[in-house]
Amino acid sequence: METNVNRLFLMGTICGWTHFRYIICSMKKEQVVNCQFSVWYPIFKKHTIKSLILPLPQNVIDYLLDDGTLVVSGGDNNNQQNQTNNSDSEEEDVQWSDDETTTTVTAPEFPEFNSKVLEAINTLGGCVFPKLNWSAPRDANWIALNSSLQCQSLSDIFLLFKSSDFITHDLTQPFLHSSDEDSQNPAINYELVLRKWSELLPGGEFRCFIKENKLIGISQRDYTQYYHHISKQEAQICHSIQEFFSQHVQYQFLDEDFVLDVYRDSWGKVWLIDLNPFGEVTDSLLFTWEELTSGNSLSANQEEGDTAQQDGPVFRYTTSDVTVQPSPCLSYRIPRDFVDLSTGEDAYKLIDFLKLKKCQQEDSEEEVEEEVRQ
Ligand SMILES: Nc1ncnc2c1ncn2[C@@H]1O[C@H](COP(=O)(O)OP(=O)(O)O)[C@@H](O)[C@H]1O
Ligand SMILES: [Mg+2]
Repeated sequence: METNVNRLFLMGTICGWTHFRYIICSMKKEQVVNCQFSVWYPIFKKHTIKSLILPLPQNVIDYLLDDGTLVVSGGDNNNQQNQTNNSDSEEEDVQWSDDETTTTVTAPEFPEFNSKVLEAINTLGGCVFPKLNWSAPRDANWIALNSSLQCQSLSDIFLLFKSSDFITHDLTQPFLHSSDEDSQNPAINYELVLRKWSELLPGGEFRCFIKENKLIGISQRDYTQYYHHISKQEAQICHSIQEFFSQHVQYQFLDEDFVLDVYRDSWGKVWLIDLNPFGEVTDSLLFTWEELTSGNSLSANQEEGDTAQQDGPVFRYTTSDVTVQPSPCLSYRIPRDFVDLSTGEDAYKLIDFLKLKKCQQEDSEEEVEEEVRQ
């Protein structure tokens, strides 16, 4: 039976039957619901970064989804603002002034929500890491002045959220790739998650794949880099993650298949960072979903950096600089040339750009003249 399934799976992959592949992965909508931050946080609160959850008002959701309003509001500084009117209904629409030369856009304001957010940020020490029910705006960090997801105000958060495809995914298609796609979508209460800002070293982050409540695989999370300490401490890392899993996570969650992100700090203590659905929406990093879901036990390739403990998980990590790969979020950034142009970093690029613009202008002027002549 297993071979038949595998053969069918292979055919499905070759023939591009993506639908079939998702059935194999069989991630259900309920699993997605269970992986929301507000569902797992109360269960694992003791083992993760301190966080606060605020319900996201509908007018804020509408603002985040509205492509037309790029101007970011939300208070520029982290000072508790005195509000004369506590109602959030005073949200102003985008207003274009009558003057044709200077157009002013007024961002909507959410005074009540803004004060709740600022209060939460203060409670968490002044700097937070923001996310929605499932995702953080990791694809948008380039737009922030500090190129980081660290936020101190609602406007910092809005800027990141409005620039992020990951956030739009959470808001518009959270059940994408689920196998029971024909069933009705469960209702979602959207939430803003604020987590105390913590400097995490990327080399300490690992992703764990849990199938039928068994830890089957561990992958270095930032697989684009080689970390010397990982190959040096491979056994300790694997052991401490296994111990963390069996003591604090195994059989405690609502599902038996899920993906756990953990952080091992410099003292060797393991922390829970995030919980994700077991399926294609979650990046399988140094594994493939085919391997993880095939029903065969994962095998180590006998290579360095790919080891299986007796009856334990397979641990994969990047072994040398040769295997270093481009960062997956790179494609979300603006082209390097644009950055250089905007910062005046490369004067020659700017000159080229201006020349190009001038040529284009001349071309289009010629075209117009031609049209007029005809
Ligand atoms: N509280 C925090 N402070 C600083 N950085 C964080 C914090 N939480 C997570 N991160 C960083 O952001 C990355 C993404 O966080 P995560 O919650 O897993 O979001 P997502 O599910 O969208 O990937 C983590 O791998 C970690 O590097
Ligand atoms: Mg996640």
